[in-house]
Amino acid sequence: MKRTPFSFLATALLAGLMFNTSAQAAKTYQVATDAAYAPFESLNEKKEAVGFDMDIMQAIAAKGGFQVKFINTPWEGIFASLNTGDRDMVISAVTITPERKQSMDFSEPYFEAKQLIAVGQSSKVTKLADLKGKKVGVQTGTTGDEVAQKLLGKTSPNIKRFESTPLAIKELQNGGIDAVIADNGVVINFVANNPSAKLKTIDDATFAKEYYGIAVKKGNKALVEQLNKGIAAIKADGTYDKIYKKYFGK
Ligand code: ARG
Repeated sequence: MKRTPFSFLATALLAGLMFNTSAQAAKTYQVATDAAYAPFESLNEKKEAVGFDMDIMQAIAAKGGFQVKFINTPWEGIFASLNTGDRDMVISAVTITPERKQSMDFSEPYFEAKQLIAVGQSSKVTKLADLKGKKVGVQTGTTGDEVAQKLLGKTSPNIKRFESTPLAIKELQNGGIDAVIADNGVVINFVANNPSAKLKTIDDATFAKEYYGIAVKKGNKALVEQLNKGIAAIKADGTYDKIYKKYFGK
């Protein structure tokens, strides 16, 4: 093809235009979530992640002028995906803990939670200590796992670890274990929505307050700042309350 001064100019203009639009296009962040933790994150019929965390993240993204793509990611290895660069953030009802803070950074807290025990309706368990000598199901590496370890010992064979919380609950329903320890919101949601499972919830005075944060790769101060600005903005303008009401009522 013959290059005329005109075609050269046209190409240059076109390239400039393309460069310009791509520079202006909103950045898309890859967001990991273990979407088996309703009402915080679960998969809809189209296999898209939906829930409180997704709504919160989308609202923060809208404030910050960026886009997010949720990627269902197994809990085991979810934090490692930050270091490999496969994911930019984790929003997955993640409790901010001192240990986790050593290997990743967190946004400001966006939700308060604590542990709760699920047992069969006829169970005699009334407090955490009653689970001594019983088989306790947890999702591996969660704060529920930590609570079980504190009670039963790190290597206790009575701690039954599952790769997801629904799997632990299923085993409880099957009678393979005596209790499940998981986040209050999730346990309450399951018990309320599955009356045929015949489960009840048990609180314990020793369960400490936990706070969910959005995790990013350690050192990514710019992203943490962006998230914190977004969290503050959606709290200030009523968006947060609206989302909260949608999932938790008052
Ligand atoms: N909050 C608990 C923790 O951080 C459990 C989170 C589990 N989240 C999930 N999407 N499975 O350990």
